[in-house]
Amino acid sequence: MKKITAVYPGTFDPVTYGHLDIIERSSSLFDKIIVTIALNTNKIPMFTKEERKDMLVNVTKKFDNVVVDDFNGLLVDYVLKKKASVIIRGLREISDFEHEFQMSLTNRKLEPSITTIFLMPNEKYTYLNSSLIRELASFKADVKCFVPVYVFKKLKQKFEGE
Ligand code: COA
Repeated sequence: MKKITAVYPGTFDPVTYGHLDIIERSSSLFDKIIVTIALNTNKIPMFTKEERKDMLVNVTKKFDNVVVDDFNGLLVDYVLKKKASVIIRGLREISDFEHEFQMSLTNRKLEPSITTIFLMPNEKYTYLNSSLIRELASFKADVKCFVPVYVFKKLKQKFEGE
């Protein structure tokens, strides 16, 4: 039977329980998941590529069909290069829809053989994003309920030098 590889792209600055929820759902649906850090977005990340990768590798090691990577350039080119056929995106709220719809249709126009699949995280993570977590951590708020322990420690090191 044909094996399906799915690519889950994002900035992951840093990875949160919301992302992990999507990774877990994807891991049970597809044969292989490539979680990949997009390097050429307009965002100026707080964590370096290596730091973001290290956190992703650490928090996804329990899934034996998940690998972590990064890419530059067009997402559809990367997906083809990896012989994947699916792009995974999380849909948290209605406000995500417009941007995701635009990206998904653009990617389909660029490469019709690739399908974007949207997954909804558990509702307890729908209001989360990485900027919010960075902001809370910068004010020394306790973000343990939003990110895995390993990421929590890295945030503490970044902001409190601990
Ligand atoms: N849980 C928690 N937060 C989530 C989440 C989830 N399940 N899903 C998304 N988010 C948050 C992210 O943390 C991020 O927060 P931030 O803005 O505070 O950092 C935000 O939602 C946006 O998500 P992200 O996954 O980082 O996507 P993006 O919109 O920044 O980038 C790419 C999307 C990388 C897929 C897109 O820019 C891309 O494909 N780039 C490559 C170039 C290309 O091909 N461009 C053409 C695209 S049509």
